[in-house]
Amino acid sequence: MKTFSSVTVKKHKYLVKIRFVRSYNHLRGVLRRFKFNYNHKLAKLDIHALPYPTDWQKLRRYKRLVVEIGSGHGELIADLSQKRPDDLFIGFEIISKFMRMGMRRLSSVDNARIFKAEAYGIIPLIFADETIDETYILFPDPWHKRRHHKRRPLTTEWFSILHKKTTSGGSFLFVTDWEDYYDFVSAQLETCDAGWDIKTGEYKPESFGLPQTHYYKKWLKLGRNFRYILGRKRQSNIS
Ligand SMILES: C[S@@+](CC[C@H](N)C(=O)[O-])C[C@H]1O[C@@H](n2cnc3c(N)ncnc32)[C@H](O)[C@@H]1O
Repeated sequence: MKTFSSVTVKKHKYLVKIRFVRSYNHLRGVLRRFKFNYNHKLAKLDIHALPYPTDWQKLRRYKRLVVEIGSGHGELIADLSQKRPDDLFIGFEIISKFMRMGMRRLSSVDNARIFKAEAYGIIPLIFADETIDETYILFPDPWHKRRHHKRRPLTTEWFSILHKKTTSGGSFLFVTDWEDYYDFVSAQLETCDAGWDIKTGEYKPESFGLPQTHYYKKWLKLGRNFRYILGRKRQSNIS
């Protein structure tokens, strides 16, 4: 039996092909064959050998779990993981060269790891529900050509999945220099039934205690404006 298969689904008005796990039982079997050992060091983990969902607390005890999508040169994850040694930081970067560049910045910490992986597909699999405290999505590729809009992954559906994965009171921060992408994401969130409290504004890294990342500096030189959307998961009233 094949573990993965792909389907064509409708995202907005476009048809998109997505790859998904066909059988979790079978996947678990495949992963067991890798003899995954939780005693491995964070830096040695192979994303394909991790059991899904991964028990991150078994890998390293932590207070808060922080995820970065598209870590680029790794400035954000390196800065935060140094400042917050009690928290665990997991970054995803699709380009090997950037993943390695980011990992070099993490050589002095043991609470952070960047995986070379397609973040939007793997996050629903690798994290259990209500486990992610913070998600950072800084300057994601805007897919600015109209014919490429269908590739934009920050959809209503994806924000609903992220909501499920986020702890009560947890948050995501989305930042872009691309006005049209800001409008697109705002519209997606408006139709998202999941309980996010939204705050928006002009993005300044220092107001969030964040470093200036490679792309922030690059676009700043070109005089671009930056907008952010901060979503906070509404606290459940059940005591
Ligand atoms: C414009 S850069 C921003 C990098 C960094 N966040 C910054 O502020 O400098 C976008 C990054 O996201 C990565 N990326 C794009 N799609 C991705 C995906 N689906 N999963 C993981 N990384 C992705 C790209 O390779 C690129 O490094």
